[in-house]
Amino acid sequence: MRAVTIVDGDLRYLEHPDPVPGDTELVVAVHGAGINNADLMQRQGFYPAPAGSPPDIPGMELAGEVVATGRDTTRFSIGDRVMAVVGGGAQAELALVDESAAMAVPSHLSWPEAGGFPEAFSTAYDALFTQCGLSLGERVLVTGAAGGVGSAGVQLAAATGARCVASVRHAQLRDAVATLGAVSADPDEALGLGPFDVVLELVGAASISGVLGAMAVTGRIAVIGVGGGARAEIDLLAVMQRRLRISGSTLRARTRVEKAVVAGAVEHHVVPLLEARRVRVLLEATFPMDRAGEAYERFGQGGKLGKIVLVPPRP
Ligand SMILES: NC(=O)c1ccc[n+]([C@@H]2O[C@H](COP(=O)([O-])OP(=O)(O)OC[C@H]3O[C@@H](n4cnc5c(N)ncnc54)[C@H](OP(=O)(O)O)[C@@H]3O)[C@@H](O)[C@H]2O)c1
Repeated sequence: MRAVTIVDGDLRYLEHPDPVPGDTELVVAVHGAGINNADLMQRQGFYPAPAGSPPDIPGMELAGEVVATGRDTTRFSIGDRVMAVVGGGAQAELALVDESAAMAVPSHLSWPEAGGFPEAFSTAYDALFTQCGLSLGERVLVTGAAGGVGSAGVQLAAATGARCVASVRHAQLRDAVATLGAVSADPDEALGLGPFDVVLELVGAASISGVLGAMAVTGRIAVIGVGGGARAEIDLLAVMQRRLRISGSTLRARTRVEKAVVAGAVEHHVVPLLEARRVRVLLEATFPMDRAGEAYERFGQGGKLGKIVLVPPRP
């Protein structure tokens, strides 16, 4: 098989041996693989793949067709359409997926949409509902709301009846984000639209101190992205007086069992919304895998609405 391959910080499309499934694994012929910031960091040598994933083939999410199954797999068969978060290796013709992480792809979904779903929606779901316990009618702020995770988070918050404010720094993207079910505003203006019960913090240091001042009593903040810096000075008195909870997480570092729990929750709570077309995967662009370098460059430029997804190269 061929795969996007990191060679001395460069991206090439190279031959590799076909993957062989372990007992609980599926081999998937990849038709869509979303790009994430972690892939750009891995390319630069800052974010190595976890043990068990190919060290030089990036890609943390995929959708495709099952072409082989391990002997202990039970839920999926050859020919099924699946999508999953994986530890790495998604940006390839063939990839291994532990069956416990796989979800069925709704029939109406295109391959690029399915390839851009798992990481963004799993991350947003886990942060809003599992970490922050978002409930009906609460007030939510999503920072960095135009990107993959942000556009997913806005839709999930809106679907649960929350009043959602989307903080978007590019003015030309605000109307599109508002159609997802939020009041869409410039980051400073968004803070004035609080107080907020739950914040999906996707920007990090550039945003967090302002967010603290916009929190409601007993508010919860999930720190998920630090593209705007990882070190910040925060007002601990505000944390105490408002009885705030600040949590953080990454999906990639979790164990196989922990990842299966997230996939099960997303399959149960979010995929039905996708099937009912109540949430959708926003696609900024697709690129063939043999042009991954251009795709990564576009990702790094910012100003995106939703996901950039790699698809198989044209024959
Ligand atoms: N913890 C986890 O498990 C996990 C999982 C997935 C993603 N993440 C992280 O979560 C973040 C969002 O992921 P994503 O896939 O949605 O990325 P994305 O598509 O690149 O979106 C990031 C969004 O944040 C905005 N942004 C970045 N820096 C900003 C700043 N200083 N001020 C205002 N807005 C800023 C971007 O705006 P511009 O377009 O204007 O730059 C963009 O809209 C990333 O940092 C990613 O690494 C974490």
